[in-house]
Amino acid sequence: MDLNILVLPGDGIGAEVTGEAARVLRHVADKWSHRLNVREGLLGGVAIHKTGTPFPDETARLAADADATLMGAVGLPEFDNAPPEKRPEKGLLRIRQALGVYANLRPVRAYASLLDSSPLKNHLVEGTDMIIVRELTGGIYYGTPRGIAGTGAEERAVNTMAYTRSEIERVTRMAFHLAQARRKKVTSVDKSNVLENSQLWRRVVTEMAREYPEISLDHMLVDNCAMQLILNPRRFDVVLTENMFGDILSDEGAVLAGSIGMLPSASIGDRRPSGAWVGLYEPVHGSAPDIAGQNKANPLGAIGSVAAMLSYSFGLQEEASAVEAAIAAVLRSGRVTADLRPSGTPATTEQVGESVCAAIG
Ligand code: IPM
Ligand code: MG
Repeated sequence: MDLNILVLPGDGIGAEVTGEAARVLRHVADKWSHRLNVREGLLGGVAIHKTGTPFPDETARLAADADATLMGAVGLPEFDNAPPEKRPEKGLLRIRQALGVYANLRPVRAYASLLDSSPLKNHLVEGTDMIIVRELTGGIYYGTPRGIAGTGAEERAVNTMAYTRSEIERVTRMAFHLAQARRKKVTSVDKSNVLENSQLWRRVVTEMAREYPEISLDHMLVDNCAMQLILNPRRFDVVLTENMFGDILSDEGAVLAGSIGMLPSASIGDRRPSGAWVGLYEPVHGSAPDIAGQNKANPLGAIGSVAAMLSYSFGLQEEASAVEAAIAAVLRSGRVTADLRPSGTPATTEQVGESVCAAIG
C-alpha cells in the first residue's frame, strides 16, 4: 500500500516525538512492505518564525495532498501575549478546520503496568478503558462574534458557543459507531442546566439514539463528569462531548493513563471515496518547551497516534495492533521516560522509539 504522510513536527517536543513516531512508521512500512512517502511541513510557532503565519498556504496544500497528517505539538511561551491570530495554536485550529476533522477520538486506558504512575489509588484506576469523542471544529473555539472591544471599565470580550443540528449529528454518529464495537455505552456530556447550546445538544443526541437501539445512552453534566472521571472511571465507555468540554476532560483523563504523554488522538473527518477517513493524528500533550530538545519527552502518545492512523486512515488493523502491542510491551519492560516515574534510570525519547520498533520485531 502507498502511505503518503505529512509530518508537522510543530514546536517544543513536537520534533522529538514525531521523530520517533516516524521511526515506528518506517519500521512498520519496511516490515509489511508498504511504500512510505513522508513529507514535512510547518505549523505553529516554527511556521510563524519562518513565514509569518501559523498555518502557511503551503502546509494547507501538503495536508490536502497527503493521505494522513501526523502532528507533534504547537505552542511557544514567546507568543503568550500575542493576539489569537498570531499564536501557534491558531495554526492547529486552522488545520483542523481546513481538513474538516470534526471528531477527535481520545482513548484513555489504564495500562496495568502504569497503575503506579497515576497519583490516584490503583483500585480506582484499574481497568479504565474509555474513549472521549470530542467535537473538534465547532463550538466556542470557532463561534462568532468573538473579540475584545472597548476601553477602560467598558472593555469587553466576547466568545460564542454555537452548534448546528448537523454538527451535533455527525459527531454523535461517530460516537455511536465506535460504541458498537466496544461496550455499547455512550455518555453524552453537556451543561444543559445552564446553556441553550447544551439543550440542543442533549435533544439531538437523544433523538439520534433511537437509531441505535443496542446502545445505552446516558447524559451527564460536565461538572459532575469531571468528578465521576476520577471517582469511577470504569463506568465510562464512550464519552461524547463538545469541543471545549472535551479539551478539558481529556486532560483529566490523562491522569488516569498515568501521564499526558501517553495519550494518542485521532481527528477524523468524512470518509474518502476509498472508504478511509480523512485524518489528522496528534498526541494530546502540548509542546512542553521546558523539556524540549533534551531527549526526555514521552513519544508514546505520538506513537499511539501512528497506530490510530494505520487503523483509521489505512484500514491496516494488523499493523495497528502490532504497534499497540509493542507500546504495551515497552510499558511492561519499565524502560520508560521520566514522566511515568520508572524505578530505574528513565529511558530517553529515542530509546523508547527504538524499543517500540524492537518489540514490533
Ligand atoms: C488540545 C490542545 C489544543 C486545543 C490547543 C493547543 C489549541 O489543548 O488539542 O487539547 O485546545 O484543542
Ligand atoms: Mg487540550
